[in-house]
Amino acid sequence: MHNNKANNHLPVRPHEISLSVPVLELHSNHKPEILQHLLSLNEEDRRLRFGTQTPDQVIHQYVEGLDLDKDTVFGCFDAQLQLIGMAHLAYLPKAVGQAQAAEFGVSVLPEGRAQGIGTALLARAAVHARNTNIETLFVHCLANNKAMMHLAQKAGMQVEYAYGDADAYLKLPPANHSTRAQEAANEQWGDFDYALKGGLKRATEVLRLMIGKPIKTP
Ligand SMILES: CC(C)(COP(=O)(O)OP(=O)(O)OC[C@H]1O[C@@H](n2cnc3c(N)ncnc32)[C@H](O)[C@@H]1OP(=O)(O)O)[C@@H](O)C(=O)NCCC(=O)NCCS
Repeated sequence: MHNNKANNHLPVRPHEISLSVPVLELHSNHKPEILQHLLSLNEEDRRLRFGTQTPDQVIHQYVEGLDLDKDTVFGCFDAQLQLIGMAHLAYLPKAVGQAQAAEFGVSVLPEGRAQGIGTALLARAAVHARNTNIETLFVHCLANNKAMMHLAQKAGMQVEYAYGDADAYLKLPPANHSTRAQEAANEQWGDFDYALKGGLKRATEVLRLMIGKPIKTP
């Protein structure tokens, strides 16, 4: 069933990227952090993220199977360099006569929620998708996933509901100089933020060793 009311939100143009939350593109060497992040999700969050009960073993297999040469994973880190939010942009096989599409899946740890991290990950993934010739961005989620539905609708996605599931679609305009420049700027901002937090973390650890007691970081 098509839900017109759900689609009446003003799009925030996720392909026009915001720099307010730094987002880093992750690589294979981040797999331990990705694993740790997903294992930290409770049973209900795993169900919302993957659409089904997801035991630890399945998460291990999922992370091992992530092909970061083919797909793209984005992450947001807190001051302790904990991966607080991550998004997987999975490129779907091109079907004859259909637009090139990618699927977006996201999770943010409870302590990081309602601070714009999910929105920033969606924006970053959408502009990257646009710059890599993706025409349709797709999110599959449970229809009772209010937060994800809100995020999708705020981004101007079309939402269709069927049998307790919801499919959200976003048609992306083609890339241009501006989207490439936006992504380059966001990459630099993400790299800078990660390096800065890494430096602060190391400095704090050294200071802690010198003083001999824990130091509170923001
Ligand atoms: C969905 C999820 C990624 C959102 O992350 P987040 O960092 O909190 O997202 P943001 O802070 O950018 O935005 C959340 C928005 O949803 C709204 N929201 C949160 N809970 C809501 C609810 N129960 N009903 C309606 N809106 C809700 C917030 O108010 C906010 O809206 P605003 O930006 O207009 O103020 C996070 O809740 C999560 O990880 N959930 C578990 C996994 C999951 O559901 N993944 C999606 C399936 S792929």
